Amino acid sequence: MTKRYPGGITAVDGLDLRVREGEVLGFLGPNGAGKTTTMRMLVGLVRPTSGRIEVLGRPPGTPDRLARVGALIESPAFYPHLSGRDNLRLAARYAGAPERAADRVLTEVGLTDRAGSPFRTYSLGMKQRLGVAAALLKEPSLLILDEPTNGLDPAGVTDIRELLRTLGRRGHTVLLSSHVLGEVEQICDRIVVIDAGRLVADGTPDELRGSLGQAVLVIDADPADRAAECLRGHDGVRSVELADGRLRVTTDPALAAALNRRLVESGIDVRELRPVRHSLEEAFLSLTAPARPPVAGSEPPGREQEAATTTGGVR
Ligand SMILES: Nc1ncnc2c1ncn2[C@@H]1O[C@H](COP(=O)(O)OP(=O)(O)OP(=O)(O)O)[C@@H](O)[C@H]1O
Ligand SMILES: [Mg+2]
Repeated sequence: MTKRYPGGITAVDGLDLRVREGEVLGFLGPNGAGKTTTMRMLVGLVRPTSGRIEVLGRPPGTPDRLARVGALIESPAFYPHLSGRDNLRLAARYAGAPERAADRVLTEVGLTDRAGSPFRTYSLGMKQRLGVAAALLKEPSLLILDEPTNGLDPAGVTDIRELLRTLGRRGHTVLLSSHVLGEVEQICDRIVVIDAGRLVADGTPDELRGSLGQAVLVIDADPADRAAECLRGHDGVRSVELADGRLRVTTDPALAAALNRRLVESGIDVRELRPVRHSLEEAFLSLTAPARPPVAGSEPPGREQEAATTTGGVR
């Protein structure tokens, strides 16, 4: 699909996007990449300039398809003077869902406590939760969420993440755009990265990280110069650098034990040996900004992440 806006901006440029049934697909790209425009086209809010779109096997925006697609695209619109619950009841009526669905989705997004307060008194995060709740009213086969965790506090991010995981496990198909790369990494089966309206990467989180090359082992050994000598030329070792008394060894991380043994058998003390892997954020930056220096193995220590902690946080 391609979308050119009047004024000459090509927001989406020949994008071929496939969302597989039952997967949670992360949709990444820098500001202005065309994520929202793509999602708008998928729900029939914006007509593509050219190309062909099928949603659940039909053109987007047809009434029977809309009934099976739940979407939250940019800021959700609600009546300010009505409570969250009443807004959802109204939305349920429009969507042809039973009114009692309102209470179910309020629980799912963790908004039951404040369901009776007028929408205008909601914080940004509560508004966002209500938007996700509205998208869930129809128990949609396909859920399209444009940055659903925008404005949420860490607990809210965790809640929505858990909710999306649950939906994924229940077999819902989810298309999710986000800037929170750590989040996408944790909940998505597959990630598509676009830049300037074009696809730049498509793969599992591991594959995207892997596209950056091999991992690096950081080794603290004594004496370091002899350790470097010992590892250079070892099978599977691509490079060995010595910086600040530590070795940075670019290699397959599966060789860690063998390299450790080689050092110890050569009479070298190994105080520490740990793999660092590229974060998805690094993959993302290198994919969407080719002018930046390559990240593989050349990052200052502050940008590294230990394998054990990479999946932990939200950035
Ligand atoms: N209605 C519009 N008229 C003209 N240009 C538009 C319109 N909507 C979006 N654009 C332009 O299309 C491009 C893609 O915008 P879009 O909102 O799809 O990006 P995005 O990936 O969602 O960005 P963000 O991460 O900031 O939400 C931008 O250059 C934007 O200025
Ligand atoms: Mg957007």
